[in-house]
Amino acid sequence: MRSLLFAANWKMHVGPAAARAYIDHFLAGYKPHPGRRVWFFPPATTLHTVAQELAGREDLAAGAQDVHWEPKGAFTGEISVPLAVEAGARAALVGHSERRHVFGETDADTARKVRAVLAGGLVPLLCVGEKLEEREAGKTLAVVQRQLTGALEGLETEALGKVIVAYEPVWAIGTGKNATPADAAQVHREMRAWLKGRGAASAVILYGGSVNLKNIAELLAEPELDGVLVGGASLEAATWLQLVSTPVS
Ligand code: PGA
Repeated sequence: MRSLLFAANWKMHVGPAAARAYIDHFLAGYKPHPGRRVWFFPPATTLHTVAQELAGREDLAAGAQDVHWEPKGAFTGEISVPLAVEAGARAALVGHSERRHVFGETDADTARKVRAVLAGGLVPLLCVGEKLEEREAGKTLAVVQRQLTGALEGLETEALGKVIVAYEPVWAIGTGKNATPADAAQVHREMRAWLKGRGAASAVILYGGSVNLKNIAELLAEPELDGVLVGGASLEAATWLQLVSTPVS
């Protein structure tokens, strides 16, 4: 049976009251599907509410959109892994395109964050992907490999095996232009080979970037995709419910 992970990245949307209504709607319509997991990455202020709403459903989980690498300290505005854990997180995004390109996060930062997330017992969901000019210059694989190396090189095999990776081309995020299933699959294969070469034999690799109700079926028809990371199309409960219920052969 195919295992699939559907991850919703709410970015800077959905406060606690709206999240309660959203999750109530979602839970009423979504019974566990064999092999499917659905994760939600709400804003930090909404994390606890979502985690509480999902309690008792092993197939569903909440996670943090970003964490600091230190477990505590004078870091105004940041949240640590232990704080995310206490709020109910089971995973954390690391190196999302907006963290890298809007807030200047470096590969070295992602390395520290992946290690902190693992040390705190959460699943890191590392995001990588090239910008449009990098794709046009034929540098997609070089960029993705640099980001993988920057974040993951040197991890013990067991730790590496816990990392989930999302391939999110920057030019596809929030633009309505998704990568074709074949283009995504090609990058996934390279990433899988990189991970396998370091001992992660059964890596989970998601695709993200303008996934929506129109393209989800053809994207998931590509067996290289172990799931999707979705921004815009995850913000309405009814749309998300349909998206995660997409039949896949
Ligand atoms: P999008 O965002 O689905 O709105 O393109 C994806 C993401 O940023 O993870």
